[in-house]
Amino acid sequence: MSAPPRLNLHPAVIIMCCFIMSLHSYVASQKNTCKVEDGKADCSHLRLSAVPSDLPRNISSLDMSHNRLAKIPPESLTPYRGLLHLDVSYNSITKLDEGWCQTLPLLQMLDMRNNELHLLKKEDLSHCGNLTGLNIASNRLKLREEPFSALQSLKYLDVSSNNLQSAQLGSQPQLPSLVHLNLGFNGFTTLKTNDFLYLLNPTSLKVLNMSSVSLKKLEPDCLKPLSALNTLIMDGSNMGTLLISKLCSELSQTAIDTLSLRKMKLITLTNTTFKGLQKTNLTFLDLSQNEMGKIEGGSFQWLSRLQTLIVVQNNIKHLTKSTFQGLKSLKKLQLTKALVKSRTSSTPIIDDFSFQPLSNLERLILNHTAIREITENTFTGLTSLKELDMSWVICTSLKNLNSKTLASLAGSPLQKLNLTASSVSQIGPGSFSVLRNLTVLLLDFNFIRQTLTGQEFEGLDQVQEIHMYDNHQKAGLCPTSFVHVPNLRVLKLGKSLNATATKLDPSPFNHLSNLTFLDLSNNNVANIKEGIFKGLVNLKVLKLQHNNFARVWKNANLGGPVLFLKGLQSLTTLVLDSNGLDEIPEKALKGLSNLRELSLGTNLLNRLRNSIFDDLSSLRVLHLQKNLITSVRPAVFKTPLSNISVLNMEKNPFDCTCESILWFVSWLNSTNMSRVLSQTEQYMCNTPLAYFNKSITEFDVLSCKDMTPFQALFILSSTAVLMLIVIALLVRFQGWRIQFYWNILINRTLGFSDASVKEGKEFEFDAYIIHSEKDSSWVERRMVPLEDKNCKFCLEDRDCVPGVSQLESIVDNMRKSRKIMFVVTESLLNDPWCRRFTAHQALHQVIEDSRDSVVLVFLQDVHDYKLSRSIFLRRGMLRSCCVLDWPVHKERVPAFHQKLLIALGMTNRLQD
Ligand SMILES: *[C@@H]1O[C@H](CO)[C@@H](O)[C@H](O)[C@H]1NC(C)=O
Ligand SMILES: *[C@@H]1O[C@H](CO)[C@@H](O)[C@H](O)[C@H]1NC(C)=O
Ligand SMILES: *[C@@H]1O[C@H](CO)[C@@H](O)[C@H](O)[C@H]1NC(C)=O
Ligand SMILES: *[C@@H]1O[C@H](CO)[C@@H](O)[C@H](O)[C@H]1NC(C)=O
Ligand SMILES: *[C@@H]1O[C@H](CO)[C@@H](O)[C@H](O)[C@H]1NC(C)=O
Ligand SMILES: *[C@@H]1O[C@H](CO)[C@@H](O)[C@H](O)[C@H]1NC(C)=O
Ligand SMILES: *[C@@H]1O[C@H](CO)[C@@H](O)[C@H](O)[C@H]1NC(C)=O
Ligand SMILES: *[C@@H]1O[C@H](CO)[C@@H](O)[C@H](O)[C@H]1NC(C)=O
Repeated sequence: MSAPPRLNLHPAVIIMCCFIMSLHSYVASQKNTCKVEDGKADCSHLRLSAVPSDLPRNISSLDMSHNRLAKIPPESLTPYRGLLHLDVSYNSITKLDEGWCQTLPLLQMLDMRNNELHLLKKEDLSHCGNLTGLNIASNRLKLREEPFSALQSLKYLDVSSNNLQSAQLGSQPQLPSLVHLNLGFNGFTTLKTNDFLYLLNPTSLKVLNMSSVSLKKLEPDCLKPLSALNTLIMDGSNMGTLLISKLCSELSQTAIDTLSLRKMKLITLTNTTFKGLQKTNLTFLDLSQNEMGKIEGGSFQWLSRLQTLIVVQNNIKHLTKSTFQGLKSLKKLQLTKALVKSRTSSTPIIDDFSFQPLSNLERLILNHTAIREITENTFTGLTSLKELDMSWVICTSLKNLNSKTLASLAGSPLQKLNLTASSVSQIGPGSFSVLRNLTVLLLDFNFIRQTLTGQEFEGLDQVQEIHMYDNHQKAGLCPTSFVHVPNLRVLKLGKSLNATATKLDPSPFNHLSNLTFLDLSNNNVANIKEGIFKGLVNLKVLKLQHNNFARVWKNANLGGPVLFLKGLQSLTTLVLDSNGLDEIPEKALKGLSNLRELSLGTNLLNRLRNSIFDDLSSLRVLHLQKNLITSVRPAVFKTPLSNISVLNMEKNPFDCTCESILWFVSWLNSTNMSRVLSQTEQYMCNTPLAYFNKSITEFDVLSCKDMTPFQALFILSSTAVLMLIVIALLVRFQGWRIQFYWNILINRTLGFSDASVKEGKEFEFDAYIIHSEKDSSWVERRMVPLEDKNCKFCLEDRDCVPGVSQLESIVDNMRKSRKIMFVVTESLLNDPWCRRFTAHQALHQVIEDSRDSVVLVFLQDVHDYKLSRSIFLRRGMLRSCCVLDWPVHKERVPAFHQKLLIALGMTNRLQD
């Protein structure tokens, strides 16, 4: 039952597979990911099975190495006729096509290493006359009929690793230009007399490489044709000492200069091994990795012109006076790991005067060697020695250095002494005193356990550098530690000193005015004196990381923060990482105007004070990673970031709010971020929750911009409210004054009266004043002074017409007055005379003349009802400007006066 569906499934699967495979190959063929740069196309490691056809036409170099090429049809190269270099190494090509050189007439270098080239015939290379380099190493070559005979220009030929059974590559004269021939890793064991006779111009050959060819026999004069040969490389060929001396004799007929005999199991050298080289000008000999145990005295006596002898990694047990005998031109002797102590053997010995023959030696490299002892004459005679490398040397004499240890170097103009990791634990007084020319003293990675008093460095007045890094915090300093090294420029004391060093007063560094580099890092000193760096006017680099300086920069520190950087005006680099710093004092970085690099990473800095970086106008590199910085405010960072090229602030708990980070994010957006920041993905928000663990680059700058209108609105509305309140209060308490000035303004511009001029002309007085008998003295005191030429009152007592009855006079005067003014008080309302007659008359007058001419001046607050009952007037009947209150406050009287003038100036015409 289940069979049919399974049958159905098969074709589907097959189709699917086919589809996927074709898709894959389609993608592969489409994906031409060759890198093209400067006319060079790199198509290596792309699993290509053909030369891509879509590369730029003008490329000069094409790298097709490490692909799946089985053959290259010449047509596929036609687009690239300008090729000079073609690399098809590491493919599976079986045939060198004669069409290649035809298609590529300019080809100079053809690299076909590691292919499956087998038969190589004459025609294959017949068009390659312009080829200068051909590498067909690691194929399965079988040479037929002079395949190289057409290569007129070939200079470099590599046929190594082809299991060739002969060194002879042809029988007819050919390869006239060959300079460099590599025959290494092939199967021949004999070098025949005629092997190089096929070379048309054998003197052109300069370099011959026969590495790992197990030669058993050298026929006489086999190298004779190569009279210009200057470099022979025989590394890894197991020849044995005898055959090597034979080789050397053969080389005597050449111009040999450089001979490399590495990894040849050359266990011993005898006094005749190199005899054959006596007549040559050999300058370079490499005998590394030969497990050489014994060098017979006089072995090198033949090599008087040798300049460089490399004996790295051997097993030499004993150097004697005669070992280096005759090496009078030697300039460099490298004995790295040449003398070693194994568990079963004793420590190698260097006899006194062993180096005496080496009067021209300039560099002696003894690193990683084991030496039983250094005596008073070990280095005697090295009269030209400039550099002695004894790093990682195992030698008990170096443990306690004293004035005798290096005394044998007294005659050497030594400039550089490397005692890195040589187990030095004590430096006695004058240990280096004979090294008058020394400029560099390296003492890193030792165990110096003493307080440096200064005597240790006696005589080193030329010394410019002392390195004592990683001394396991054992050394102490005192004020005189460096008195004998006044020229010091570089002093590295990282991880070297115990806590006393920076507490000293006077400071041990004070007189080192030429010091440019000081490393006191990793000393955990915790304390530091303010004057420690006083006088270091040339100091450029100061490294103080890992020193636990948190307390000395605290504001709360007893005596205030210690401003130990004061006066370092030349400083360009300052490293203060990992000091537990949680604050930077306001003036700590003042005056460092040349500082280019400041490193404060891995501290506990949080809120930085404004302007602390403001003097750092030259800053280019700032490291503040791994602190507790939440906000990046312009008040702190504007100056230091203005010219920055490298900024490192990752791993801080940024607060991604507009207030804390907006400026920074905007700054980043306006800067070429990838240029400045190392790892943008490490800049994470910590707060607020919405941004937690998101990159600060995701912070929405616009969200802050949107707030601006709201902010404006807020400011606007709050100002409006405030202003309203102010106005209300002003009106409440100073309204009269405002009104007063308003009135003055109005009056000045418009005049007092809205009445026509004609209207005023008819009257003698401006106002007839009605008041009670009781108020006459008030009127006298207050109203009369208000009179002037614009304003004339009629007072009954004063202005009555003589000889006329009082009643008549009243009627008359009222007629002559434009306005009738009541001075309203309780007494007026109670005054029968006023009530009965004057008021009646006044009203009568008013009604009769159809005049709107009543003005009320209240001296007291009188109820409207009372007013209407006694003088038949209500406030509401009059225009508001004609109802006046006498002010309680004296300073308001002028304002009242103004109002009065207005009231009196009002037209009398009735208004509807
Ligand atoms: C060698 O290169 C020159 C151009 O530099 C060309 O004219 C000549 O034909 C080339 N020779 C061969 C044998 O391809
Ligand atoms: C080589 O050393 C032997 C002794 O080992 C000595 O007899 C012989 O004279 C030395 N030859 C030369 C050339 O120094
Ligand atoms: C060695 O060099 C000298 C001059 O430096 C020279 O005269 C002599 O021919 C050279 N010898 C050989 C074998 O090259
Ligand atoms: C030994 O010193 C030389 C130069 O001083 C250096 O090139 C070499 O790397 C050193 N070797 C080791 C194993 O440290
Ligand atoms: C000194 O020796 C150390 C260890 O071999 C090496 O790393 C350093 O480069 C040497 N210094 C000099 C200046 O040769
Ligand atoms: C070494 O110093 C001496 C003086 O102390 C000086 O005469 C000599 O030229 C110096 N040698 C070198 C190679 O600098
Ligand atoms: C510092 O080291 C020196 C030498 O090892 C020692 O004499 C001195 O007592 C040490 N000082 C302190 C505070 O450890
Ligand atoms: C500092 O170096 C200058 C030359 O660069 C030299 O003249 C001067 O003597 C040095 N200062 C001291 C204190 O050695």
